[in-house]
Amino acid sequence: MEKTIEQIYVDALKQLKTASDPESIKSLSIHYIGRKGIVTQFLRNISKLPQKERPQAGKRANEVKKLLDQKFKEALRELKTTTSETTDQIDVSLPGRIVLQGTLHPITQITRQVCDIFTRLGFDIAEGPEVETDYYNFEALNIPKNHPARDMQDTFYVSENIVLRTQTSPMQIRVMEKHTPPVRIIAPGKVYRCDSDLTHTPMFHQVEGLLVDENISFGNLKGILTTFVHRIFDDQTSLRFRPSFFPFTEPSAEVDILCVMCRGRGCRVCSQTGWLEVLGAGMVHPKVFENVCYDTTRYTGFAFGMGIERIAMLKYGIDDIRKYFENDLRFLRQF
Ligand code: PHE
Repeated sequence: MEKTIEQIYVDALKQLKTASDPESIKSLSIHYIGRKGIVTQFLRNISKLPQKERPQAGKRANEVKKLLDQKFKEALRELKTTTSETTDQIDVSLPGRIVLQGTLHPITQITRQVCDIFTRLGFDIAEGPEVETDYYNFEALNIPKNHPARDMQDTFYVSENIVLRTQTSPMQIRVMEKHTPPVRIIAPGKVYRCDSDLTHTPMFHQVEGLLVDENISFGNLKGILTTFVHRIFDDQTSLRFRPSFFPFTEPSAEVDILCVMCRGRGCRVCSQTGWLEVLGAGMVHPKVFENVCYDTTRYTGFAFGMGIERIAMLKYGIDDIRKYFENDLRFLRQF
């Protein structure tokens, strides 16, 4: 036996000092105190020592084996805590995590722009129920029982007399029942129609407008809507008032703007007409005034309604209305 147990012990400690990873500590442990390790071999060979040295050497070798076992385990434990400490530390040189920020839905953005334009013109904002009675959605608006707009195809019926509102026009009635003229409101909100294709979704958004006072004429209606169109699109946008029909307005008009895509030359979006319909409007029908007990000899007024999705599609050049409701972030992030 060349080395004494003390030498072996000192060597082992020296080597342990330079071991910097768990693997080398484990192999040191095997090398010294494993089944075929140096200390183990030493113990096996005790019998070859001179008789009187044997008890002392055996005792010491067992001690050394125990001590080394402890030291190796300690070293492993230490290595574990120091490495986990480093991973817990904050590396200030790492690039920061990007905080994803939401944006307003394009429909919300346009609704707010529309409301903004009208509140600056002196209109208040009114809101009302999406589940509406037949009376407010139809009857009070002079839409008789046999009118095609009442057809089951268009209207979602909740029960015989309850519907999902098909338009924001019932807000005209609700506001006039509560207030005496002058009335100047817009009413944004969701409406529902049983319809679905490239340009229709079963739920969409409208903004209703109503102005009632003494001496209100069609000229006032034209003025307000012209100002609105110039502000929501741009003041180069021409518009035209085309005679139309709504049961609750007389006379009635539909408002077209010069096609924002082709500037009137004719394209796919405007079906080659050069014009795009954006609004329904008219002078409040006397029957509607009677339904809310307004004095028809004293007051006149106008009402209008527009689809928000339609305006947003024209402003942003979107050809499929369904894109608004698919919640595809790649689409929504563009606005
Ligand atoms: N409510 C009508 C529609 O949904 C629009 C409209 C509102 C027309 C007010 C005239 C006056 O088509």
